[in-house]
Amino acid sequence: MLRVPLSDSLLLNVLAGQATSPPPIWLMRQAGRYLPEYRQVRSKVSSFLDLCRTPELAAEVTLQPLRRFAFDAAIVFSDILIVPYALGQKVEFIEGDGPRLEPVSDAKAIMGLDQANAGKAFGPVYETVERVVAELPQAVPLIGFCGAPWTVATYMVEGGGSKDQAAARLLAYRQPEAFQRLIDLLVEVSADYLTNQAKAGARVLQIFDSWAGSLPEDEFERWCINPTKKLVGQVKAAIPTVPIIGFPRGAGLLAERYARETGIDAIGCDTSMPVGWMQRLQVHLPVQGNLDPLLLVGGGEALDVRVGTILETLGQQPFIFNLGHGILPETPIEHVERLVSLVKTVTP
Ligand code: CP3
Repeated sequence: MLRVPLSDSLLLNVLAGQATSPPPIWLMRQAGRYLPEYRQVRSKVSSFLDLCRTPELAAEVTLQPLRRFAFDAAIVFSDILIVPYALGQKVEFIEGDGPRLEPVSDAKAIMGLDQANAGKAFGPVYETVERVVAELPQAVPLIGFCGAPWTVATYMVEGGGSKDQAAARLLAYRQPEAFQRLIDLLVEVSADYLTNQAKAGARVLQIFDSWAGSLPEDEFERWCINPTKKLVGQVKAAIPTVPIIGFPRGAGLLAERYARETGIDAIGCDTSMPVGWMQRLQVHLPVQGNLDPLLLVGGGEALDVRVGTILETLGQQPFIFNLGHGILPETPIEHVERLVSLVKTVTP
């Protein structure tokens, strides 16, 4: 059967359930330190958060990778930790060491978080969205995003990144009611945040659950599936047509439940997910991923071979080419050029 393309955007067509040849490609963290022009803009501001809060500069770095590479989507330049910042938590990014937050480690601190001014903190992000959309061609949609409640909560409770998310997992075991309050608050604020990014012009949304993989089955249901389902439901109630990609990194065998139960429109798969499993998920919904970011650093024939395998296995059904996690700062630009040309020319 000959299928008529629904729009001139490869990404929107795939998210509407239609396989495209070639598949769309974009990369998680596609704006960032591997680009000299990003480092140049970054050096103009003293802190990373200032870059996120300055729409003119954030819009510029959002567009930078699109000028170099034929990506099929842009992703708004911001960070998932804008949400705790908007709730009044102290957030800093330490050069070379990652985020530092004043930990929210008990019920009292959770009660102290303040939703009232959150909208004001998000204002610059909405302005960035408007500026970027004004510059992009119709065929290249802008992706808005937030962190999933669980992943954002891990940073809030721990006070930064961690190996095993122990502080958040322990708080959830010891004081489930308090932890539930934090998760519920994050659902509300994130739903509002995503909805307003879409209202400002983002045509696709992605929810990053980078630490979904640290939860055992019953906790995964409680802290990953249920809040994501609520979040998706609230955004869809406001804007029924906006497609949402969920990225439950490390979910493994639980990815299938996540795909079926959360109401997302497409699932992002990390590097550890076998492509055969991604094919099984493709029966239910479009899949995205899962090239190893380190292979993009390595390049060479191994990169060519792997890209070929991914395209052959997944390219016949709705598929979005991406990495299994964010692009690494040490990635050579020529390898990204090579990747895009392979995806654009190899027909599955
Ligand atoms: O994809 C894009 O181009 C949009 C920008 C984007 C950033 N962060 C910019 C950023 C996106 C989508 C994110 C998401 C994000 N942020 C996640 C989820 C995805 C993932 O990687 O798991 C997480 C967990 C964070 C939190 C975060 N932000 C950490 C742990 C760090 C420090 C580690 C690091 O990579 O530097 C950041 C900082 C950050 N966010 C940078 C960028 C470009 C680097 C800071 C700088 O340039 O000075």
